Amino acid sequence: MSNEALRGEKTIQEPAHKVSLIDSVDEMTVRLLVDAGIGPGMRVLDVGCGSGDVSLLLAKLVGKDGKITGIDRDGPSLEIARERVRKLHLSNITFIKGDICAISPGLGPFDAAVGRRVITYLPEPVDAIRKIAAALRPGGVVAFVEHDATMVPGRLKPLPLQEQVSTWIRKTIEYEGADIHIGFNLPLLFEQAGLTLEHVRAEAIIQTPRTQYPTVAIIRAMFPRIIKAGVATEEEIDLETLEQRLFDERTKANLVYVSDMVFTVWARKSGIPK
Ligand SMILES: C[S@@+](CC[C@H](N)C(=O)[O-])C[C@H]1O[C@@H](n2cnc3c(N)ncnc32)[C@H](O)[C@@H]1O
Repeated sequence: MSNEALRGEKTIQEPAHKVSLIDSVDEMTVRLLVDAGIGPGMRVLDVGCGSGDVSLLLAKLVGKDGKITGIDRDGPSLEIARERVRKLHLSNITFIKGDICAISPGLGPFDAAVGRRVITYLPEPVDAIRKIAAALRPGGVVAFVEHDATMVPGRLKPLPLQEQVSTWIRKTIEYEGADIHIGFNLPLLFEQAGLTLEHVRAEAIIQTPRTQYPTVAIIRAMFPRIIKAGVATEEEIDLETLEQRLFDERTKANLVYVSDMVFTVWARKSGIPK
């Protein structure tokens, strides 16, 4: 899902403090990129770049001497990405249309290939990771950020509506072929693709009764897909009242809970030492 979709949301009740999902996942992404060694002057491939959120984060890290290439198969998302880059007058980001399962080594060489919320959707992830790695220089880094639904929502007491909403999301992306356990699987997939694992970590997105969380924006953006997957009916979702019902539930329960888990993993291609 694009961050634009998430940003479209307004909450009914103004919370006492605001913690945005977008900000926290972007922070996690930047931490991953910095810790994986992405820095000034590097040539980086943004795999499944969508509308360019990660490419823009990367541009700040590599600076004017670095170069970002974003690749995605979705033309409209790439147009949004190009327009954002035009508006920011950035000359070191290029977006190309293509299938990441068929990346040619000739696209590189890159110092690093990174991506967010992408491997989870690939039918043959090991093959795709091999192809991505083939476009790297020896010793290059592969780093991914992937959401994992295995342990969410984590809570001390029941939150029936929140649990139901999590189930709608999980079952829909599962129906579409996504690996909802990608965080647990990714380190092994990297190794099967011949990479040397360097680091694996997971961070939780925590909600408090007063946290602003764009749950309804996510459900609204996913609505046609949820209906198509047959996971819930329009009446069960009842978009018009969902925000208020979720707010009432978490206020009444007064619970802190884990609404999402974000795994960040990086590995290295063999070759010249780092
Ligand atoms: C959930 S979006 C994430 C976009 C971006 N990485 C971000 O974090 O904002 C997943 C993206 O992967 C792209 N994608 C999925 N499978 C792909 C494939 N085989 N080839 C190219 N792009 C693909 C989709 O088009 C979509 O833009």
